[in-house]
Amino acid sequence: MTEGTPGVAETQQFYTRWAGLYDTLASHTPGLGGLRERAITRLAANPGDTVVEMGCGTGANFPYLRDRVGDEGTVVGVDLTGGMLAEARDRIEREGWENVHVVAGDAARPPVADADAVFASFVSGMLANPVAAVDDWADLVGEGGRLGLLDLARSTEQVGRPLNALFSGLVFAGLPSKRRRNVADAPRLLDDRVAAAQRALRDRCEDAHYSTHALGFARLAAGTVE
Ligand SMILES: C[S@@+](CC[C@H](N)C(=O)[O-])C[C@H]1O[C@@H](n2cnc3c(N)ncnc32)[C@H](O)[C@@H]1O
Repeated sequence: MTEGTPGVAETQQFYTRWAGLYDTLASHTPGLGGLRERAITRLAANPGDTVVEMGCGTGANFPYLRDRVGDEGTVVGVDLTGGMLAEARDRIEREGWENVHVVAGDAARPPVADADAVFASFVSGMLANPVAAVDDWADLVGEGGRLGLLDLARSTEQVGRPLNALFSGLVFAGLPSKRRRNVADAPRLLDDRVAAAQRALRDRCEDAHYSTHALGFARLAAGTVE
């Protein structure tokens, strides 16, 4: 296991334990829905497309992704945590969506053969090798396919920097407890992985668009694979 990267079992245990609370926060935190919508608008999937969401969690992005692809398109969520997938399945059933599916699997080795677009939110920082993962996602969608990332990291903007200590505390609090003993600088690791993932997207896309939001804490990148 790479230093600072929770193992699969640890991630599954942690997120299964907190899946209900996570779903409430993921779906109702003020401002978050707007960020999700903005990121998915940037992804610019087309009606009829198949979009794969890596690390879909409880499916908080599904309404926005489904709006983009319409009834003719398909949304496939991939996650390795059973408890999160259970919440996502409940959401799909509740909404009566017939073209939204979830599958258990590792975003670093996605169990999906083909897609028009790949989206991931708040996942890059959890991957041991985000560059390799983004590369795989680019290969998965192929030339002309779309990639989109939404991540949080410490702010480099003057207006957000005073809040970095608070943000770092939240990052630390959101780690599995074993990890807290092992990771001296979790926020730095998060920053590095998010930056690496977003750079990898820019390297693989011809028209990559990058922007920051929420005082510089939210990073959004999207583009078309060359
Ligand atoms: C912070 S949550 C984000 C969930 C969702 N994308 C959202 O925006 O609310 C991270 C999710 O990524 C999943 N995850 C972490 N590493 C993963 C991996 N290698 N493959 C698939 N899912 C992973 C976790 O199980 C968890 O559900």
